[in-house]
Amino acid sequence: MRLELRGITKRFGSLVANDDITLTVEPGEIHCLLGENGAGKSTLMNVLYGLYTADSGEILLDGTPAHFDSPRDAMHAGIGMVHQHFMLIPVFSVLENVMLGNEPTRRGLLDADTARRRITEISERFGFNIDPNAMVEDLPVGVQQRVEIVKALAHDAQLLVLDEPTAVLTPQETDELMAIMRDLAASGTSIVFITHKLREVKEVADRITVIRRGRVVATASPDQSADELSALMVGRHVALQVEKRPATPGEEAFRVSDLSVFDDNGIPVVNQVSFSIRRGEILAIAGVQGNGQTELTEAILGLSERVHGEITLDGMALSGHSVRQRLDAGLGYVPEDRKKDGIVGTFAISENLMLDRSFGPPFVRHLAIQRGVRDERARQAVHEFDIRAQGIDTPVGTLSGGNQQKVVLARELSRDLRMFIASQPTRGLDVGSIEFVHERIVQTRDSGLPVLIVSSELDEVIALADRIAVMYKGEILGIVPPDVPRSTLGQMMAGIAA
Ligand SMILES: Nc1ncnc2c1ncn2[C@@H]1O[C@H](COP(=O)(O)OP(=O)(O)O)[C@@H](O)[C@H]1O
Ligand SMILES: [Mg+2]
Repeated sequence: MRLELRGITKRFGSLVANDDITLTVEPGEIHCLLGENGAGKSTLMNVLYGLYTADSGEILLDGTPAHFDSPRDAMHAGIGMVHQHFMLIPVFSVLENVMLGNEPTRRGLLDADTARRRITEISERFGFNIDPNAMVEDLPVGVQQRVEIVKALAHDAQLLVLDEPTAVLTPQETDELMAIMRDLAASGTSIVFITHKLREVKEVADRITVIRRGRVVATASPDQSADELSALMVGRHVALQVEKRPATPGEEAFRVSDLSVFDDNGIPVVNQVSFSIRRGEILAIAGVQGNGQTELTEAILGLSERVHGEITLDGMALSGHSVRQRLDAGLGYVPEDRKKDGIVGTFAISENLMLDRSFGPPFVRHLAIQRGVRDERARQAVHEFDIRAQGIDTPVGTLSGGNQQKVVLARELSRDLRMFIASQPTRGLDVGSIEFVHERIVQTRDSGLPVLIVSSELDEVIALADRIAVMYKGEILGIVPPDVPRSTLGQMMAGIAA
């Protein structure tokens, strides 16, 4: 199927999310939409899929204008979409999910027999090995994603949109997905592949459309260098490598021994984890998200209840202490979900910068906020951390993700710290901010603190870590140096010990 988008404009209030976007996807082409977070990629695809109505512009399928009022219309016209967050119903079987809603297709209704036959056909053709009767919740995420693809193909999709599909996959699963995309394209399916990962674009794209701030800024080829592509994406040159000298670790400063965390049903989500970090060293925890990393950092911070095991910082036992006491003991913490745990969006930058220190000097004396001190410190932080905002009174919720993260970093790093922990430190950030955050993390290491990083972005782990611990199903599968082959790390992320 040939897709043409002509002059698509979509506004949300005064924000122009898509500004006069024109692009063509040829039959059998893998077309990458490359752009930073917030560039407008998902919005454009949601317009195509009938979830949003464009303010202006035209969609043409094989030269004929198309109007979709709902995803059902889009599906009917041969468009399939695999969202980043899967839309499958976990307690239903693969078969039920594929039949779901009995959406009409060109061939009429999908009855159980037809659906089962199509699942088997498609599985065989692409080597998917999917059991139609399997319960979706019992399948690994990589397989669930294939079910989404099977569902789209079972409904005769001739144009498949994959929106950031690799976020939840191991490197091996990502490779397999790319092989599937190539097979699909070879059999004539057109593919729109959305990503912000240059590695993937270079590997699989036939053609690339770069979107920045809602506009098409370039059509590029996968042969262009990663440097060129990232400059197009960001609008300026950025360092893709983290500048970092070899670590010169001092003595051991932080230790976790036999730490287990149990969920509400008493099942361990972190299972007898042990590791230590020395001063001036970055230990990074790698793993596909959902393997206990979140629970581990929350236990270290004191946010969890059912915890067994020992945590010590500079010889002092933290176990049993409150979050407040742990922060006071010198834990600096950048949470995974900054909107939920890191900032108060309606509060000003200056207020967010003192959030965890509203109990005493220098910000509070005799129960009164020292506005002069607060504002002076805020101005310093805004300058030092390059926080782009109108002023220190700007509500943090109105800043971009990158600038919100800088506020959190500025607050955490301007206390007297003995240790620094950052969970998914650059999730959702633009490339420029990622560069900045990485520099600050390395500086923090070089100032002599033990640093713990948790990231599901393998490239980030490799770039930052002095040692890498891989977590799988709540356990640490191994601790390895950062120069082990990517493929070995990938296998460990899939549960195969090194
Ligand atoms: N439903 C919505 N309402 C208001 N603003 C939105 C909505 N969806 C997206 N946006 C805004 O539109 C811009 C583009 O977002 P999006 O298309 O999700 O970007 P991308 O997928 O490239 O990361 C962002 O600034 C985002 O905040
Ligand atoms: Mg998106």
